[in-house]
Amino acid sequence: VTEPEPSAARPAAPVRVGLLGCGNVGAALVGLVETRREAIAARSGVDLEITRVAVRSLTRDRGVKLADGVLTTDAAAVVADPEVDVVVEVIGGIEPARELILDAIAAGKPVITANKELLANHGAELAAAADEKGVDLLFEAAVAGGIPIIRPLRESLAGEDVTRVMGIVNGTTNFILTRMTEEGTTYAEALAEAQSLGYAERDPTADVEGYDAGAKAAIIASLAFGTRVVAGDVYHEGISSITAADIASAASLDHVIKLLAVCERLEGPDGAEVAVRVHPAMVPVQHPLAGVRESFNAVFVEGTAVGDLMFYGRGAGGDPTGSAVLGDLVDAAVNLHKGAHATIGMGGRAQIRPIDDQQSPFYLSIDVVDRPGVLRSIAEVFERHGVSIRSLEQEGIGDAARIVMITHRAREADLQATVTDLRDLPTVHRVGSIIRVVGAEG
Ligand code: HSE
Repeated sequence: VTEPEPSAARPAAPVRVGLLGCGNVGAALVGLVETRREAIAARSGVDLEITRVAVRSLTRDRGVKLADGVLTTDAAAVVADPEVDVVVEVIGGIEPARELILDAIAAGKPVITANKELLANHGAELAAAADEKGVDLLFEAAVAGGIPIIRPLRESLAGEDVTRVMGIVNGTTNFILTRMTEEGTTYAEALAEAQSLGYAERDPTADVEGYDAGAKAAIIASLAFGTRVVAGDVYHEGISSITAADIASAASLDHVIKLLAVCERLEGPDGAEVAVRVHPAMVPVQHPLAGVRESFNAVFVEGTAVGDLMFYGRGAGGDPTGSAVLGDLVDAAVNLHKGAHATIGMGGRAQIRPIDDQQSPFYLSIDVVDRPGVLRSIAEVFERHGVSIRSLEQEGIGDAARIVMITHRAREADLQATVTDLRDLPTVHRVGSIIRVVGAEG
């Protein structure tokens, strides 16, 4: 590969960037703009310059070189500054990020944001404002960090009939589940290690209970299906109740447990419906998602014409996320020169299928009295609720037995009714974990 010739069309005037926030991602972006500036100018014809940076503290060392006067604590002044052409928002949270972004758009400035929480709750409002004003609103970094997934969904797959997207979109939980699977550690030990490595926060709720993945699922579903899905539409279960026994059962069935964001487009009685959920899932070891280890992320896309696709990489961290922001920044700068902007294509409000009506195969473990006729009484409960058993194994546990089974695809409400009735059977000691299964779709 030869280096491209410097573009004859290289503009004299730099595109001036106002950066809101200079934490992990913001500081990485400043470093990347410095090291990649020449190469970007040669390849894309845009010269990027970080002109103003809004921070909370002027004294904190961020490990980046910035000229005197660039740093300020006044984010609104950065947005309003006539010497700022493009705004990058990496402060996170709903306010003041939302208001700052709307102000930037109103001033005709393209915006790049990594803010999943804001997009998953107010994405439509921001997208409508950007479309009306004719400026870019780009957010590649908001989902799965450095992995390009937003642009492929929005542009490359714009004509594709995407039927399902399944993602490992939270690195912290993937790290914890990988440790439990490969080292046999408990959930608590793996969480403590994730915290000591800086993956998990001191309060890990957003990651381990699936809120972070849920926000990303809402954004993915909106773009994959061209319809508006918000964070509140996403059903979520976390990984905090996954036990070493679940991990071992999965392994004995040639599966691994992963926290998945699952987005499906389905036909309902009144037209297209969207099902979006985040939960631990048993994934067959042969499935490409099963090989996604440690804190890596991956997004698996299924389309009618294109077939299966998988996008894999670093879902967090300053440099990978900064790289995604930088790509958007180059795109927005090129568009600004052309007087063009990308269409977001989130569409109208989605018809959400309630979790009770969503379907999946399920794994269940049931501790029972070990005597003749027990299996028949259990099978009867499944039959009563129309839940079909696909496979079943029994193992002895002292005087009792554990039955481990996988069902065919079943409706959530039917499965829950089955479990309620199983718990009432005198021969059932305990119904343990109930985990949805990928790949046993029939
Ligand atoms: N905390 C997230 C993760 C990264 O563990 O993947 C930011 O969304």
